[in-house]
Amino acid sequence: MAVRLYCATSNAGKLLEFQQAAGDGIAIHGLPPVPCPESGATFEENAVLKAVCYSEALRGAPEGSPLASPLLFADDSGLVVDALEGAPGIHSARFAGPGADDAANNSLLLEKLSHVPGPRRTASFVCCIALSRGGGVIQTFQAEVKGMILDEQRGSGGFGYDPLFYLPELGRAFAELTPEQKWMHSHRGHAFEQLLSWLRQTEEGGSTAGL
Ligand code: IMP
Repeated sequence: MAVRLYCATSNAGKLLEFQQAAGDGIAIHGLPPVPCPESGATFEENAVLKAVCYSEALRGAPEGSPLASPLLFADDSGLVVDALEGAPGIHSARFAGPGADDAANNSLLLEKLSHVPGPRRTASFVCCIALSRGGGVIQTFQAEVKGMILDEQRGSGGFGYDPLFYLPELGRAFAELTPEQKWMHSHRGHAFEQLLSWLRQTEEGGSTAGL
């Protein structure tokens, strides 16, 4: 029987990526949006806050329904730029201010790095996924991918900072990759792979983690 896993996100694109990556044996379902605090100081704290918040919100679901105490996960991610002492970090979505769009965030990033020479433009994308059930945290999975910040945007794929994030080993910006290539090399793809292999091992080992 497939493991049923719920994804705590209001982002339909992210949900689809996770569903496509999960493959056989793990069925990923969306959840109605729940307003949650994002007051953590790290990606991990924010992922945990979100996972626990969704998990708590489902506590009232009727006993026996699939939503009674489901296994669910939430992720938090962002861009960490070394020359900016880790900014935008956990504030990546709103770097240029509340409600900022990708264009504004990317322009601000270019502006802040305008005097930083190529070799010092190192950065990482980080993603943390937290797995929860019944209001408790079961496990977290964190991954990062290292790259460089370009001095102009390249490519038209992806979202967020993808046109400025250059992967030296591929010689391409994230926005120049196909969705499959990006997933294979991305922080989110790697963190999700850790979650999948943990689930497979836990299932194989017959653990009582509640799967
Ligand atoms: P969240 O994980 O949805 O909260 O993402 C936070 C922000 O980090 C996004 O709004 C983007 O600005 C940035 N970000 C996270 N992951 C990526 C990515 O894969 N590509 C580009 N930007 C990203």
